[in-house]
Amino acid sequence: MSQSEPSVLRVEHARKAFGSLIAVNDVSFSVEQGEIFGIAGPNGSGKSTLFNIISGVPFAADAGRFILAGQDVTGLRAHLRFRRGLARTFQTETAFDCLSVEENIDLARVYGPDNPEEAYGVAEALELSKISRHTAEMNAGEISVFDKKKLMIATAVVARPKLLMLDEPAAGLTKTEIDELREVIVELNRAGISIVLVEHVLPLLLSVAQRVLVLNQGEEVMTGPPDEMIKDPRVIEAYLGRKGHDRVSAA
Ligand SMILES: Nc1ncnc2c1ncn2[C@@H]1O[C@H](COP(=O)(O)OP(=O)(O)O)[C@@H](O)[C@H]1O
Ligand SMILES: [Mg+2]
Repeated sequence: MSQSEPSVLRVEHARKAFGSLIAVNDVSFSVEQGEIFGIAGPNGSGKSTLFNIISGVPFAADAGRFILAGQDVTGLRAHLRFRRGLARTFQTETAFDCLSVEENIDLARVYGPDNPEEAYGVAEALELSKISRHTAEMNAGEISVFDKKKLMIATAVVARPKLLMLDEPAAGLTKTEIDELREVIVELNRAGISIVLVEHVLPLLLSVAQRVLVLNQGEEVMTGPPDEMIKDPRVIEAYLGRKGHDRVSAA
């Protein structure tokens, strides 16, 4: 990591409210080139809303600035943020069920980077996301939940993004599937894609993330390496409440 390289993502004072509920409240952080950056926090703490306002899908922020590899993308619509190299997946698997897996990936490729030569081929995207040849020919409506999650990753990475944001990819998966997902994440990262991972499955998050931002009620609790995160009393309190914190401290 060279000192002169700009952060792959800088989020400055991001905010999003729904009526009187402030879902994301003055959140700032940076993701460095090549990093796997984790985001954790209890349900409803604003993780998905933060992804939404960073990617612009389905809505923009009320306030804040978003800088992608040194370029301000705050005013850009979602598809232009994607073309600049910012890709995301969703908590619920989404795909065009009437198209084959390969066709889904090819479609995402068409909407890919400004310079199409920068994109991966469909075959490379299949390999990177560990989708089998057999599955590639099936209709997206017929494949397993895990394959659909991998398809969502393949459509996000086919454009060879600078940054891939994954929203709880391990939800609902078996332990074996989570192990394979870990390999996919690590391999994508090795291929040069920086990653933001929102994840409730802490063993996965803590084993791949270099740093973790913990949110609670829309606000930053702390940002630090996994070993600091798991013993930070503020994090324990955010997850378990004050009583839980006292129990853990007394133990
Ligand atoms: N589209 C929306 N309209 C109204 N409230 C929303 C919307 N999206 C999220 N919220 C609320 O914002 C808060 C944060 O939600 P979310 O970002 O989904 O949390 P997380 O992903 O951490 O579980 C929650 O209280 C949720 O109910
Ligand atoms: Mg969420």
